[in-house]
Amino acid sequence: MSTILVTGGAGYIGSHMCVELLQAGHEVVVLDNLSNSSARSLEAVERITQRSLHFHEVDVRDTDALRKIFATYELESVLHFAGLKAVGESVSEPASYYDNNVVGSLRLVEAMMEAGVHNLVFSSSATVYGMPEEMPITESFQTGPINPYGQTKLHVEQMLTDIAGSNPDWRISLLRYFNPVGAHASGEIGENPNGIPNNLVPFISQVAVGRRPHLNVFSDDYPTPDGTGIRDYIHVVDLVRGHMKALEFLRRNPGIHVHNLGTGRGYSVLEMIRAFEAASGRQVEYRVVERRPGDAAVSYADPAKAERELGWKAEFGIERMCEDVWRWQSHYPNGFDAADSP
Ligand code: NAD
Ligand code: WQD
Repeated sequence: MSTILVTGGAGYIGSHMCVELLQAGHEVVVLDNLSNSSARSLEAVERITQRSLHFHEVDVRDTDALRKIFATYELESVLHFAGLKAVGESVSEPASYYDNNVVGSLRLVEAMMEAGVHNLVFSSSATVYGMPEEMPITESFQTGPINPYGQTKLHVEQMLTDIAGSNPDWRISLLRYFNPVGAHASGEIGENPNGIPNNLVPFISQVAVGRRPHLNVFSDDYPTPDGTGIRDYIHVVDLVRGHMKALEFLRRNPGIHVHNLGTGRGYSVLEMIRAFEAASGRQVEYRVVERRPGDAAVSYADPAKAERELGWKAEFGIERMCEDVWRWQSHYPNGFDAADSP
């Protein structure tokens, strides 16, 4: 078994990753500055797995702190989730996105080079494709992000491609996620957005639990069967299992590799509302409003390359995604740090 560094491990996807790694018997070191998470997620990870992990409250841009971590543990691989991810905020605060996402990744890679650690999995995003006209999206599609957040992801991909090209020891996996949703089946960890959720499923879930009066559906005049936007929602547990497969793949394959992580199936906003109502037994009020600028009508993955090369395929459907979100949301209606949390 190996020792693995998870940057951003207290966050939504990172905490689910820690569960999977600990359950597979690995030692886990988490680095997170808690800018968008709570250390309580890591306590929950330890409860679920009945194992302990090593947590360092550290910023990924802090070279000295990184050096100490690399000197303390014999790290085999790094899973790099730390970063900022809100598209709208990236438009109003681009410098902060370049700093956390691009500079943060550079500092991490420098520390890895210094320590002689060369295995890295990077959380990229389908947002690097911009607004493709054809579906499904394969990895060979042209990239062309349409917002600063997406630009930072593409810059990091490009930087890592150059770095992998400079030394044959590197083994790097770029994973382009579609729309991660869902939660661990225990209901103990899940997505816990600060303030008003930007993403569809956390918003629906907060309406169902009574925190928000209604959902705004961003238009029903798209050229889709019911007029609402279609996305490829992927269960977070399937997603993190894709990372386990990517780690195995890197053991056999040096160099840099890119894979889409999606289900290959799209669902509309109205289909997601109905699935959530069925899973929760609650009604989800909604109003149809204007389109949100920058939204594509349809986006879904071609996951064939991940299936072929990683031996990975998403298993969970939207019913299970919604059931698991609802279990988490009803357990922690106001998030981890709220007064009413268990
Ligand atoms: P998240 O915000 O829940 O997790 C990110 C974690 O990184 C948080 O715990 C945050 O505190 C930490 N962090 C942020 N900046 C940091 C810094 N400078 N130093 C140390 N820690 C820092 O987000 P998530 O949904 O779990 O996303 C994880 C990764 O996956 C991100 O890189 C994100 O861009 C990428 N991604 C997410 C989605 C999505 O829809 N959730 C889709 C595609 C890609
Ligand atoms: C899904 C659908 C909306 C909210 C974003 C980022 C992307 C990636 C994942 C990180 C769309 C509709 C949404 C609402 C709505 N993140 N919607 N009312 O836009 O596909 O992707 O998150 O990498 O980079 O852009 O996901 O969940 O915001 O929207 O009607 O309140 O739901 O129009 O059709 P999106 P989303």
